[in-house]
Amino acid sequence: MKISNISKLFNGGGIILQNQDHKDLKKINKNKIIKLFKEYGIIIFRNYKFDPKKITALTDLFTHRYANDARRREMRFNNKKINTVDTGNKRMALHSEASFSPSWPEILWFVCIKPSKISGFTTFCDGTKVYENLSLNTKKFFLKNQVMFELKIPFESNGLKKKLSKNNSLSKMKDWLLHAPGTFDTSINLKEGYIYTKYLKYVVNETRKPGVLSFCNHLLAVFGTDPQILSCKLLNGNRIPKKIYDEINKITKKLTIEFKWKKNDICMIDNQRFMHGRTKIITSEKREILNIQTLYSNFE
Ligand SMILES: [Fe+2]
Repeated sequence: MKISNISKLFNGGGIILQNQDHKDLKKINKNKIIKLFKEYGIIIFRNYKFDPKKITALTDLFTHRYANDARRREMRFNNKKINTVDTGNKRMALHSEASFSPSWPEILWFVCIKPSKISGFTTFCDGTKVYENLSLNTKKFFLKNQVMFELKIPFESNGLKKKLSKNNSLSKMKDWLLHAPGTFDTSINLKEGYIYTKYLKYVVNETRKPGVLSFCNHLLAVFGTDPQILSCKLLNGNRIPKKIYDEINKITKKLTIEFKWKKNDICMIDNQRFMHGRTKIITSEKREILNIQTLYSNFE
């Protein structure tokens, strides 16, 4: 196996594991991968033999529970765990998947079935590197202030609906509780199948590496890309200052790579350290990338 780095812009450089003897993906060493993942936060498996329909045989090895994000995406191979990446052709700003919600996946998996050649590249940015490069004042700002996301989260409500079908309050918002620290003013609409909540959280977080912090969040992607986000403000109702946004934009621009996929590349990414996005897709170009989300890993 040949080991190389993805980019100098990442702390540690990220890792590409290039299989040279067409070995089967099932033969990877789980403990070794976990060790590399904790250290580098992003691994590309290249040149391995696998059947995309059975890709969860790999992800199962590292997963305690999968995230349920299927409503927003197109399911593949009749498997709820496997979805396509976001539809449409627009550029997607850097973000950490679902980092605005209490269900924040630990690992993201991307599987490249068909790479693009001239547009629609996946972007990656190491949040630990972003944090290091923030000015002292901006570090202080985010270490002190939590950010409040106002959310409308859809859910499958059939079971609950049936249970409460004779209840007149079905059409109204009902007071509700999410067992997640930081959530408040939560209510549920059973008829329309969504939960409304406010969610307060720090947008700088500790990583798997002790003492290493990451700027890994949704701040650059809150405007208009995800219908679940109704607003994003500070607790006192103020917006995050423009000066800070300008700084984040400038730093992330310098630290972001456009990744050129090769067919059958599999990417395992620490969603609580790295952010990802996409460059605009030129409509004539077709690409296909699958997405699997591990909500909780089984490492410990
Ligand atoms: Fe995403």
